[in-house]
Amino acid sequence: MKEAQRTIVVCVTGSIAAYKSAEIVRQLKKKGYVVTVVMTQEAEYFIGKTTLEALSGEKVWTAMFDKEAWQGALGHIELAKADLVLVAPATANVIGKIASGIADDLTTCLVMATKAPVVFAPAMNENMYNSPIVQENCQKLKKHGAYFVGPATGDLACGVHGTGHIAEIEEIVEAVEKFVP
Ligand SMILES: Cc1cc2nc3c(=O)[nH]c(=O)nc-3n(C[C@H](O)[C@H](O)[C@H](O)COP(=O)(O)O)c2cc1C
Repeated sequence: MKEAQRTIVVCVTGSIAAYKSAEIVRQLKKKGYVVTVVMTQEAEYFIGKTTLEALSGEKVWTAMFDKEAWQGALGHIELAKADLVLVAPATANVIGKIASGIADDLTTCLVMATKAPVVFAPAMNENMYNSPIVQENCQKLKKHGAYFVGPATGDLACGVHGTGHIAEIEEIVEAVEKFVP
């Protein structure tokens, strides 16, 4: 266990690579981090809340308007107080929304509200990743201080070999440790 408890919010978005977030959460927990998971609504099509709740040991958050749960507090502001926000996997959609200042769900709101380092682990089809719009959005986020890990080159879910594969879990965990040792 680490001496002081460091808190990581893992935002899971609607990519086929969402199942990898389970192992990311498990590895981060093993390293002694307190891990809270936030899922986009689309992420729920790809991985079950129960799995991430069991692995993190914390409630998984999806809804922006969950007044009862936050007991009057603002959920996205509370979550934004984490030591680091990891968006893994990060879809083209969520990268684009954040790069454009759109904050229409819990994930995008808390990324906008945090002063902590934000690490993106993109995962998508190669053509999506290479599209000038996604590239521009990634550059914009980097310019504003975001850190990117991956994507890697490998066999993609769409059946082609290319760049867009989520980075190796070890690499993602290392990126977190670099910012929050
Ligand atoms: C089977 C399937 C797999 C998908 N995989 C990806 C992916 O790996 N990366 C991506 O950017 N979008 C992917 N999408 C599209 C996203 O799910 C879609 O853009 C969604 O609106 C993303 O929402 P979110 O960013 O709020 O989670 C996939 C869609 C389907 C149906």
